[in-house]
Amino acid sequence: MEVKNAVQAILDRRSIRKYKPEQLTDEQLKIILDAFDWAPTARNAQEVRAIVLQDAEMMKAFAADFEAFAAATGGKLFKNFYFDAPTLILLCGDAEFPYTAIDSGIAVENMAVAADSIGLGSVILGCIRQFMADEASAQWRAKFGIKDSEMFTIALAVGTPDCENPKGAARKEGKITFIK
Ligand SMILES: Cc1cc2nc3c(=O)[nH]c(=O)nc-3n(C[C@H](O)[C@H](O)[C@H](O)COP(=O)(O)O)c2cc1C
Repeated sequence: MEVKNAVQAILDRRSIRKYKPEQLTDEQLKIILDAFDWAPTARNAQEVRAIVLQDAEMMKAFAADFEAFAAATGGKLFKNFYFDAPTLILLCGDAEFPYTAIDSGIAVENMAVAADSIGLGSVILGCIRQFMADEASAQWRAKFGIKDSEMFTIALAVGTPDCENPKGAARKEGKITFIK
């Protein structure tokens, strides 16, 4: 397997929103989950957990419930929020630990970069956060094994892109301050 260097993968990675149906190989999934597992965590807590969904029927039902919730709560309309990617990875962690969200962000980007480096596509998904924090998703949190003491943080859809790599948006100026 060809593996792109990390800097190139960081620069090339774009959000992919169209996937081929083929599932990740065990080798591809292991690389992505190693990238998750070896992400740094505050105080080396390693509290963030990954839940790997590959049951297409379950994923569709989950997405349908989320869509209904978003429509009922007046949120943005979400159709097929994970874009039919064959794998959806949910991250969750200790709701009381102050760094759970930051650790999750680092881990999800590690996975996204790893995916790009081995020729896969991904998109980070935060849109289900409100749903996952609401009573409406209780049965899903139970199905996914998310404990009452944990919160869902972020998700990553992963698969083989069925599109060209999108062009990135222009970079905003003035985001970097030098003090020499
Ligand atoms: C924390 C976070 C949450 C995001 N949530 C969503 C989402 O719910 N749905 C989606 O389609 N894209 C989502 N994205 C992807 C962003 O829209 C995307 O990264 C941004 O537009 C820049 O495009 P690029 O990733 O192609 O460079 C999210 C990205 C981040 C970092």
